[in-house]
Amino acid sequence: MMIPKELGVGELAERSGVAVSALHFYEAKGLIHSVRTAGNQRRYARSVLRRLAVIKVAQRVGLPLADIASALDALPSGRTPTVADWRRLSATWKRELEERIATLTQLRDQLDGCIGCGCLSLKACPLRNSGDALAQRGAGPHFR
Ligand code: FES
Repeated sequence: MMIPKELGVGELAERSGVAVSALHFYEAKGLIHSVRTAGNQRRYARSVLRRLAVIKVAQRVGLPLADIASALDALPSGRTPTVADWRRLSATWKRELEERIATLTQLRDQLDGCIGCGCLSLKACPLRNSGDALAQRGAGPHFR
């Protein structure tokens, strides 16, 4: 049995687990590319499957599509990510994920101080006024 070099959009959706509508969206955003047949049907190189795998993982990490697109664009001549590319990208994205976790942890801790307070004070609430130095004194209002 001969393995086709290119995939139609339905085959690509089936093999990647990505909906046809999402494939069209990714293509419109420049994340994946296709060629058109004489009958104006999309055909995708098999390597797009790996690109889609990278996109799916990056989305699970919570990266915006624009960031994923620029990471893929940065690859030489828009090639499919190699093992080395993926190691580098995943290391970068791990650092970004760690930064987001740290920010969310800080927000969660600040929210803990708001629970049961209700002041929503511009002067005292660390979530309402995140740059407020008084927030360092702890949760709750400091001016009454
Ligand atoms: S509601 Fe946030 S400190 Fe009072």
